[in-house]
Amino acid sequence: MKTLKSACKPRDTVFDAARRDTVLDLSDLVGDRIKPEEFFPENYITEGMKTLLTEGFRRLEGKSDQGVFKLTQAMGGGKTHNLLALGLLAKHPKFRIPVMGGFYAPDKALGDVRVVAFSGRESDAPYGIWGAMAEQLGTRELFKDYYSPLAAPGQTAWVNLLKGEPLVIMLDELPPYFVNAKAKPVGNSDLSVVTGTALSNLLVALGKAELKNVLLVITDLTASYQAGHQQIVTALTDLQQETGRTAMDLEPVRMNTDEFYQILRKRIFEKLPSKDDIAEVAQAYAKAIRDARQMDVTNASPEQFAQRIVETYPFHPAIRDLYARFKENPGFQQTRGLIRLMRIVTARIWNETRDNRYLISAHDIDLNDRETLTEINQINPTLESAIAHDIASGEQSVAEVMDANLGNRDAGDVVQDKVTPVVAEPHQSGRDAVVVVSANKLGMLSRPRGSLVDFFRKSPLANVNLDLARSTDTGRRVDL
Ligand SMILES: Nc1ncnc2c1ncn2[C@@H]1O[C@H](COP(=O)(O)OP(=O)(O)O)[C@@H](O)[C@H]1O
Ligand SMILES: [Mg+2]
Repeated sequence: MKTLKSACKPRDTVFDAARRDTVLDLSDLVGDRIKPEEFFPENYITEGMKTLLTEGFRRLEGKSDQGVFKLTQAMGGGKTHNLLALGLLAKHPKFRIPVMGGFYAPDKALGDVRVVAFSGRESDAPYGIWGAMAEQLGTRELFKDYYSPLAAPGQTAWVNLLKGEPLVIMLDELPPYFVNAKAKPVGNSDLSVVTGTALSNLLVALGKAELKNVLLVITDLTASYQAGHQQIVTALTDLQQETGRTAMDLEPVRMNTDEFYQILRKRIFEKLPSKDDIAEVAQAYAKAIRDARQMDVTNASPEQFAQRIVETYPFHPAIRDLYARFKENPGFQQTRGLIRLMRIVTARIWNETRDNRYLISAHDIDLNDRETLTEINQINPTLESAIAHDIASGEQSVAEVMDANLGNRDAGDVVQDKVTPVVAEPHQSGRDAVVVVSANKLGMLSRPRGSLVDFFRKSPLANVNLDLARSTDTGRRVDL
């Protein structure tokens, strides 16, 4: 059976702290600073992206009435990434077949497509969103009547600006833009109102025949950013009331699916082993679970578990619980946060000398490591003291002391898995965190060398009839 290190090869970016977190945005796309030959090998086509590309290209080819798309997800969820993928394929026809060939036959007659992109982070754009768009199209003059004083272009003005060759319009980060624009007076009103009107007019204009090869994609945060989000809702409601049309709503990375495992694989690894090698690891884990079942410490199904590993390799299937827990914290940057954390974990595993792991699991997150802890603190800053007390504190925490007494790392591993819930539900962390771990979870933690079984045999509690039911103790309160 191949160890992680002999089976997989991480990308170079994983080891370079400075390059771990390059955040690309729309200005990089407009400025042609993104190389499609570097972007696409690290891109995983999610269901949402597949729909966006398929429906987007049908529109550009004049085959569809669907001209408005909305990408909704929390911060770091993959919205901008989807815009970049679409924008690059619009600008660079030769990548269309290699990237989309598996699910769509792009029309060979469609050449380079124009892309206009506005990010709401450009809050100081002097002539509003419309000024920035006209400028990118090289027709600044066309909108001169709408610059001073700032006024919203009407439907006809939009049609005149945008008609002609196929065009992709991208509007990213509008919620913060709207919030900011509220503080900028325009006549008796403010820039957020004027921008809202301009946006409504633009959406309605997209229904006109002259713009049948023009497509607009707008991104929206999940309702958490209430203030700026409302303006987008209003513009989309206007669209529906005036034209009976709606925006197609897409999710860049679907929640509650394994898509994020696929993204992690693509982003972190350059090379993964063959299906057979993966199946061998999966079977070894299944065997460990079978043993654990005989000990009556788990009721997990070995077969199901093996199947899960095939899907999630080289990550442990329980990472999904971790992700689900993290997601409940407003500070967690979704896909971005998980990629960052897993890059750190992977780099640390590859940099250490031991080579006896077969999967990357939740308990490989080293909470004694500064960089890792910084990442966890960003997800939920209130956890620092809980982690230090219970899990990791330079050999002083409850779990580490237990390990020292038992002469292994199992308590640490067990409690580290417990961190997953702890991170999101700090109130469940009590001093008896080890006992709180469910029997089922313990089984999931078993590793191919049967260390879990040993753990129980060596435990001072081996002959005690221990009640493994979850404690109903509400535990310590931590303010969130
Ligand atoms: N389908 C995907 N394939 C590869 N990487 C992705 C994918 N979706 C998101 N990512 C990565 O996740 C991170 C967050 O995505 P981003 O688009 O910046 O989020 P958002 O715009 O929603 O805040 C980026 O580093 C991006 O490259
Ligand atoms: Mg973004």
